[in-house]
Amino acid sequence: MKFRCIATAVFGMEAIVGQEIKDLGYENVVVENGRVLFDADALGVAKANLWLRTAERVYIMVGQFKATTFEQLFDQIYKLPWEVYLHKEATFPVNAKSVKSKLFSLSDIQSISKRAIVKRLTNLYKVEWFKETAETYAITVSILKDEVTVAIDTSGKGLHKRGYRELGNEAPLKETLAAGLLLVSKWQPKIHLIDPFCGSGTIVIEAAMMAKNIAPGLNRNFDSEKWTFIPADVWKVAKKEAFESIKQDVDILIEGYDIDKRSIGIARHNAEVAGVDDIVHFQVRDVKDFSTKYQYGTIICNPPYGERLNELEEVRKLYTLMGKVFAPYKTWSKYVITSYEDFEKAFGSDATKNRKLYNGRIKTYFYLYFGEKPPKKIAD
Ligand SMILES: C[S@@+](CC[C@H](N)C(=O)[O-])C[C@H]1O[C@@H](n2cnc3c(N)ncnc32)[C@H](O)[C@@H]1O
Repeated sequence: MKFRCIATAVFGMEAIVGQEIKDLGYENVVVENGRVLFDADALGVAKANLWLRTAERVYIMVGQFKATTFEQLFDQIYKLPWEVYLHKEATFPVNAKSVKSKLFSLSDIQSISKRAIVKRLTNLYKVEWFKETAETYAITVSILKDEVTVAIDTSGKGLHKRGYRELGNEAPLKETLAAGLLLVSKWQPKIHLIDPFCGSGTIVIEAAMMAKNIAPGLNRNFDSEKWTFIPADVWKVAKKEAFESIKQDVDILIEGYDIDKRSIGIARHNAEVAGVDDIVHFQVRDVKDFSTKYQYGTIICNPPYGERLNELEEVRKLYTLMGKVFAPYKTWSKYVITSYEDFEKAFGSDATKNRKLYNGRIKTYFYLYFGEKPPKKIAD
């Protein structure tokens, strides 16, 4: 069975998610606002969940149509082949979203859609009441400019939940965003990497998982693992293949520093859970003492943003300090994500380029400062 799939992405990450999907070999990839469409069979659905590092969730599309009245919504949803996906005992909550559309009452969209699905299945299964006691098929009805997309969530928990963040600190970066920063930076596992503001270690751990080729979803479960229309052995095959793909002897050390001792303890613990403690090194260190003996490398960091007014002067000083301590490392590339508008001024130099990204609800910029290129033989 072939499915039209949807990988959702946060604002600014769509192209990165699209690239990941293409790199994994999927076909008919279409990048849109907030989502990327692609084709996959059942094995492809399992693999997308296991391997996508930057997507939020993976859905199977059940249908797409235009609706400007509730009658149209009901009729079109009723026409979709629900019996292909939902058996008699299935649990099927319906969630609604609406943006710039005539139909905007979420509770009405939700209840009318649910009624349409129930009506079709009642007629087919000849049951009056669906107990919904078995596994979950979470349905989303999202309407954008009167165009309705009906889809089932194959992931369950968001894909950022890798299973390694047993402990958290105050402002951890979402795992999917940390992976996105690494992909935007075009960092390669042979390049030395340091996060001097590592906190709970998300960037370092995501990088180390890439270096060891660990599928980000290997340490968790997905709703579609229990589904009846996805053969169980498909998941077994996908997980076995992912286990066998892990590289054990990787010759790299990825480093994370932070001024806060507790954060470093958390980072070490999480790295162990993620199975990357052999290639990472965390240390308590103030950025003012930053130094490295390596000639070439990459710094990626998510320093404090100073969200509160009284903290802004403090972060400005911190960014100026960063500019000074990083400046001697001309052959290192530096990448910084922050919401602070005058970052480049405080840092003391203009970025090669920047990219607008959302860190949760906070609008941020990812500043890219490319280092001087190593001679060809070191780069290879
Ligand atoms: C936004 S948090 C980083 C969160 C991290 N990306 C994560 O995923 O957990 C910023 C971190 O910078 C650290 N920090 C603040 N001032 C510092 C300094 N002068 N030197 C090193 N680390 C510092 C804080 O302790 C905090 O953990």
